[in-house]
Amino acid sequence: MFKIAVLISGNGSNLEALIDACKKNVINGSIDIVISNNPDAYGIQRAKNHFINYKIIDNNRFETREDFDQALVEELKDSNPDLIVLAGFMRILTSVMTEAFKNKIINIHPSLLPKYPGLDTHNSVVKNGDLKHGITIHFVNEVLDGGQIIAQGEISVNANETSEELKTRIHAIEHVMLPIVVSKFADGTINTKRVIYEKFK
Ligand code: GRF
Repeated sequence: MFKIAVLISGNGSNLEALIDACKKNVINGSIDIVISNNPDAYGIQRAKNHFINYKIIDNNRFETREDFDQALVEELKDSNPDLIVLAGFMRILTSVMTEAFKNKIINIHPSLLPKYPGLDTHNSVVKNGDLKHGITIHFVNEVLDGGQIIAQGEISVNANETSEELKTRIHAIEHVMLPIVVSKFADGTINTKRVIYEKFK
């Protein structure tokens, strides 16, 4: 069975989309563990609701980012996942994590990378009057939102659209695309040599 670990920091709506896709066999795999760095993340409740194993590793308990990552590695080594999905995980990983799970960590980011790495992407789109916005799913390396792109979904920004409205539409695309991409990993149709690049209009 293809084993997935999901790392979260907050609401976990993308986690829920993955849980749903596993239940419906859209993803031929299962979520083995959910890890949150934030003890108050609502996503933990979502894991509990579905009886999924979860672990809180509070980053505030660690002096350095490397120490925190080492704790993640130790936890993840136990469950030995085939794929680690960062789904709203608000920590930049160090090489301690990226080297331990080379080409096994993916992230979902709410912008058309390389545009707008980091936070506040929807506001940036509105402020700059961009006509396009979207999401990117990419491999994770030590550069913030900088790893190889796997898939992107693109939307046109409507006239006078607010950042909140954009956020809602972006989330809806994420919930469709993330399960599709994870299912391709589970089926073995994505690897580092065979990368898809799709635009969902
Ligand atoms: C998503 O927009 C994702 O792209 C970003 O953080 C948000 C997480 O949302 N990395 P949720 O916690 O899955 O609801």
